[in-house]
Amino acid sequence: MNLERSDATMGNRKDNKRSGAGHSGKGSSNSGPTSSGGQRSDSGSRGPGGAAGKRRPGSGTGAAGARYRGKPTGANRRPTSTPVLTLDEPVRLNRYIASSGTCSRREADDLINQGLIKLNGEVVSELGTKVSKGDRVMVNGKHIVPVDREYLLMNKPTDTITTTSDEKGRRSVMDLLDAQEYGTLGLFPVGRLDRHTTGALLLTNDGDLAHRLMHPSYVVSKQYLIETRDPVDEKQLTALQTGVELEDGIAKADRVSYADDASPTWLVMSLHEGRNRQVRRMLEALGNEVVKLDRVRYAGLTTEGIRKGRWRRLSRDEVAVLYRKVKL
Ligand code: URA
Repeated sequence: MNLERSDATMGNRKDNKRSGAGHSGKGSSNSGPTSSGGQRSDSGSRGPGGAAGKRRPGSGTGAAGARYRGKPTGANRRPTSTPVLTLDEPVRLNRYIASSGTCSRREADDLINQGLIKLNGEVVSELGTKVSKGDRVMVNGKHIVPVDREYLLMNKPTDTITTTSDEKGRRSVMDLLDAQEYGTLGLFPVGRLDRHTTGALLLTNDGDLAHRLMHPSYVVSKQYLIETRDPVDEKQLTALQTGVELEDGIAKADRVSYADDASPTWLVMSLHEGRNRQVRRMLEALGNEVVKLDRVRYAGLTTEGIRKGRWRRLSRDEVAVLYRKVKL
């Protein structure tokens, strides 16, 4: 269980109740792409044939060092959120805990088994315990309450890390979000991208969905646009497809091809595995090096229309598709 994430999440939550304007209206993606100032054009993100002015797939604006203004962006889609639990009916404790964004239901069961959950001051030992209106639930000493579930798709910029906190003080993707709107919701990134990898990153407080999206038994496809230091020849391309040896076992692409026939240093690769630095290590295994890595698609969601450092809320339909993909 990701207690680190749980702790960070819980640490964030002084008051879980959302304040201010109605959930669906504020920051709605219906407002369409924002065009406010402070966004620099992403001159460094040209792909194959860059000088010719062709934009690479998934590229956006906002180079490293730009001021990310933390506004939602994106298509005209109905924004999503799943309303907070009303507790009109008693609900299982693990569901209640998960609805606070602390962790998934399965992880909540583990917390119960570890004796870390108190209901109205008493340690809970029964997994099937129910919570009713007015009950007070403490997780590891912290009072939790349900929050709306949020789903954001960010186009991660370079030089940001994907942990919710960092002792070295490096900029995290969480720093890009508007603290007032999202600071109390317990959002966290689903999975990891390296500090200098850009592209599609899902942020949510839906522990159950996140847990499954990250779990190897649910096949979640990711597509990367890769720039390499040296040209990749046909033989190496085949090796990426059939498998290259890494220290943690053979790794192979689901699909890999040149992004552009004229540029043997640009590849598009699809993977469903999510091993640490997998793409970089696969290229290193061939004696090459990744100089740019952009995740252009994650679980069917693309960064199209989202500038680097910005995000949009997923539509209800998109969330429903994710749920179906992971059999929730
Ligand atoms: N593969 C990598 O090497 N790095 C990432 O950030 C994602 C996939």
